This record gives sequence, C-alpha cells and structure tokens, in this order.
Amino acid sequence: MNFKEELSKYIDIINSELQKYIETKECPESVLNEAKGYSLLAGGKRLRPILMIATYSLFKEDYEKCFKYAIALEMVHTFSLIHDDLPGIDNDDYRRGKLTNHKKYNEATAILAGDSLLNGAYKILIDDIGNTSNVDERARKIEALYELSYGIDRMIAGEYVDTEFEGKEISSDYLEYMHENKTGALIKAPVKIGAILAAASKDEISELEKYAEKIGLAFQIKDDILSEIGNAEELGKPVGNDRERGKCTYVTKYGLETATKMLDEIIDEAINIIKNYNKNSEFLVELALYIKNRNK
Ligand code: IPE
Ligand code: IPE
Ligand code: MG
Ligand code: MG
Repeated sequence: MNFKEELSKYIDIINSELQKYIETKECPESVLNEAKGYSLLAGGKRLRPILMIATYSLFKEDYEKCFKYAIALEMVHTFSLIHDDLPGIDNDDYRRGKLTNHKKYNEATAILAGDSLLNGAYKILIDDIGNTSNVDERARKIEALYELSYGIDRMIAGEYVDTEFEGKEISSDYLEYMHENKTGALIKAPVKIGAILAAASKDEISELEKYAEKIGLAFQIKDDILSEIGNAEELGKPVGNDRERGKCTYVTKYGLETATKMLDEIIDEAINIIKNYNKNSEFLVELALYIKNRNK
C-alpha cells in the first residue's frame, strides 16, 4: 500500500462528493449558500471522513456506503471551525489558507453558515435513513446518527471548557478532558460510525474506540504544538494565537519537549492497538503516524 496515494485518492473522492451538496441556485439566501461552500471547499485534510472510510474498509469493500455519513461529518467539522474562529470564541482571521468565514463575509453570515451546515448534516442523514428499507441497515444507520450527535454534543462541551479556561490555570485532568471533547469526540465518531455501518461487533467496536481515543488526543496535542512552532503559511491558519489568547494547551502546560514526548507515546499506544487488528489495518497505522508527523 502506498499511503500517500491512498490518502490523496480519498481526499479526491470526498471533495467530489462534497461538491454535490453545494447549492448554487439563485435565491434570497444565495450568499449564505456561497459562504457555506467557501469554508467547506477551502481545502482541509478531510481526516474525519477518511477515518470513517478507512474504518469501514477494515470490514467491507463497498465503502461508498458511508459517503453520506462522511460528508455529513465534514459539514459538522466545518461548522465547528467556522464557529471556533468567530470573535466570541478564538477570533481568528485565517483558516484553511483563506480568510475566516466571518472575515470574508460577516459575523451574522458566519454564524448562520455554521448553523446551516450543522442542520444540513442531519438533513442528509435523516433523508437517507428514511430511504433505507432494510430493517437491520436502518437500525445501524440510526445508531450511527446517534454517534454523530453524541460527538457533536461532546465537541461543543469541549469548546465551552476551552473558552471558560482562557487565561486561567487548568488542571491536567481538565486539559485532557477539554482535548478529548473539543477534538477527540469528532475523531472518535467517524471510527465508530465506520464500524457500525460495516456491521462490526460490539467487541470489535470497543477495540477501535481505544485506538480512536488515542489518535484524537494526539491530534489536538499536535495542533497545540503546531500552534507554537508551525508554519502559518503551511498550516493555513495563524501560529502563536493560542499563547496570545492565554489558551491552555499541552505546550503551555507541559512545555514543548514534554508535549512532544507525550504525543509520541500516545501514537505508539494507538499503533499497538491497531497494528494487528486485522489484515486491513495498515492504513490506520499509517494514519496514526501521519497525525504525529504532519506539518499542517
Ligand atoms: C482543526 O482540525 C481543528 C481541530 C480540531 C484541531 P483539522 O486540522 O482537521 O482542520 P482541517 O479540516 O484540516 O482544516
Ligand atoms: C479546535 O480547537 C476544536 C474545534 C474547532 C471544535 P482549536 O481552536 O484549538 O483549533 P484551531 O487551532 O483553531 O484549528
Ligand atoms: Mg478553539
Ligand atoms: Mg481555534
């Protein structure tokens, strides 16, 4: 398997699937639709949909079966980014290499574009469930929808903790809680959803969940590190902003060196969980390494 080729194949698939949901029809809310497309198609690593497809692919080959869930999740993630960047939360000017939604349009449009992406995700999935006649498949889809809504709920809780502790001391437990929720939850969701849609067993899902929790936490620790020493151009978003706003991160709490060591250890743990999972798990091993080594 050539990891880079696989990754870019998946990114292309997701981008072309996303394109199908962009509304371009002339209407009074055309600019709102444009604003949604602006952030949705601005690039982005598409990690969450890729994780879903890769997890589904551990069990089955017809991964197009999870496209609607993958698209819905990327919409939700994009909503979380648009709102995260708002003046009332992180007040950032750049995202995915472009002006943030509220800078490009205005605050009202950005708030509503986020709301609309969130609701749009549910709309796609509820519509899909309504069109599913097979009883078992329908039940799996409802369970997957619950996992998505649970992940969103936790992401919002984590975002709250993040804003609440701005400029304050945070305990290591609360810091981990914040990261597990604001970022980990929407990384765990695609793993669980991929497995559920592929009809994996409860035991199979619970093992994957452990892997997902590790990479979710690791992903945010790396985000903290990149916010300190990354390259803004490459990242497509600002560097130094966490420190400027008095954000609590693994770097401000433990220092760069220890944070990097913690990241390495967590990724090793994730790899140990997944490497012998089954004959198709190599991609998820590579994905864990990608999370550790990424520069964007
Ligand atoms: C950024 O997520 C926000 C976090 C949860 C750390 P990504 O780094 O996955 O952002 P995109 O989708 O690639 O832009
Ligand atoms: C992002 O947290 C988490 C969500 C958007 C839910 P951050 O605020 O740390 O991420 P970036 O650095 O802005 O992408
Ligand atoms: Mg934030
Ligand atoms: Mg932010």
